[in-house]
Amino acid sequence: ANDKPLFGRHLVITAGGTKEPIDPVRYLTNRSSGKMGYALAEAALAAGAKVTLVAAAKRDCSTAINLVIAPSAKEMLFAVEEAMKKADGFIGAAAVSDFALAAPFDQKVKKQGDGHLTLDLVQNPDILKTVGQNKKPGQAVIGFAAETQDLLANAQKKLAAKQADMIVANDVTAPQAGFDKDSNQVTLIQENQAPITIGPKAKSAIAKDVIEQVVTILDHQ
Ligand code: PMT
Repeated sequence: ANDKPLFGRHLVITAGGTKEPIDPVRYLTNRSSGKMGYALAEAALAAGAKVTLVAAAKRDCSTAINLVIAPSAKEMLFAVEEAMKKADGFIGAAAVSDFALAAPFDQKVKKQGDGHLTLDLVQNPDILKTVGQNKKPGQAVIGFAAETQDLLANAQKKLAAKQADMIVANDVTAPQAGFDKDSNQVTLIQENQAPITIGPKAKSAIAKDVIEQVVTILDHQ
């Protein structure tokens, strides 16, 4: 059997929860630790791929992984678009903030006299959607869907809306799944195929299965 099925291929993977600056000392973020994205990067590397991991925050990983730290959604989009120029595939495991401050404050925000502070948020770019729209022939695009209800229906919608080849649907309310856990349980959704549910098991094992599907997708491109 071929134990390096991704040899000669380059994957770009995102990980972690983006940090959207409020002022020089504060930011908006979410519960993503980056564990799932880092596990995917290790699984892709083990399968022989060249890997660019665009992460919101640093964690330990193999030195053979090309790690790019991009804290905010805009920085992440920039790094991903640059890396996708020469890549064969994209996996968006990051929890990208849907909103950022319209204008982050230049100085630390002080307590307000009337006890209220209103933050004006504007929608961030959608990295997965942008990559899906700009997909070149032969490239595979895989997204995640973190859902708290109607998992499969919402994941199906994301498959179409983001022009993805596969969505990894993640019920983040399941006991051994989701944010910051060491295990996960997901359902792989592809067009015209029966959903495949895997786990609960270690994120490293989930990542191995996801990468196996990515190999199949790339081989059929
Ligand atoms: O990091 P861990 O603690 O290990 O947790 C793993 C995880 C739960 C974060 C991961 O398994 C997961 O589900 N990641 C996707 C989280 C998410 O933001 O999902 P979403 O349904 O909001 O977004 C759908 C897809 O669009 C995702 O691939 C996301 O990366 C992408 N997206 C979303 C918004 C945006 N502005 N740009 C994007 O690219």
